[in-house]
Amino acid sequence: MKKGLFITFEGADGCGKTTQLNRLADYLTPAKAIIKTREPGAKGLGEKLREILLNYDGEIAPRCESFLFLADRAQHIEQIVKPAINEGKIVLCDRHTDSTVAYQGYGRGLDLNEINYLNNLATGGLKPDLTIVFDVDIETSMTRVGTEKDRMETAGIEFFNRVRNGYLEIAKQEPERVKVLNAAKSIDEVFSDLLNIIKPLI
Ligand code: TYD
Repeated sequence: MKKGLFITFEGADGCGKTTQLNRLADYLTPAKAIIKTREPGAKGLGEKLREILLNYDGEIAPRCESFLFLADRAQHIEQIVKPAINEGKIVLCDRHTDSTVAYQGYGRGLDLNEINYLNNLATGGLKPDLTIVFDVDIETSMTRVGTEKDRMETAGIEFFNRVRNGYLEIAKQEPERVKVLNAAKSIDEVFSDLLNIIKPLI
């Protein structure tokens, strides 16, 4: 069977990517074999790592935080993503390697070459066929997040501005793979823009 497609959804917290991912999955099903998945914490061991990453109330050093996201990724790729792609499925993944570059690299200030090297180690070199970055100003995205914040979401506006700029920088460096959508528009408008990018691929 034809190899599947690996599409990742990226952006700062509150950008609306999960809504768009769900909508796209509904739109493509049942004509296409789709799986929806996420990082961190798709299932099993990943859920335990997610619990630590989002809810642990002590200090987590940035390098340790990276390794926990990367451990989740290594497991996720082997257990879920690779098998699905080999079966010819379309994998819609909520966050992946670019989150670590944007959050731990640009956000926390870790070395970008090191992050790229470690990402490659975690994925075994598998790359998304397409990545969509949902871009919106942080004032707007923070109002979408609301007041109940997890450990990552309490990082503050300057952190999230660095994350946002990180994503835009990644898109500049890899324009073939990474497409940026204006996520300040309405849900319907963003979805229509998303379909314009996806349709030629499927
Ligand atoms: P989640 O609730 O899945 O957020 P969202 O709905 O915005 O995707 O929480 C994941 C959090 O983890 C989010 O704040 C981004 C962060 N994260 C990293 O910092 N590095 C990573 O490599 C990944 C995958 C996520």
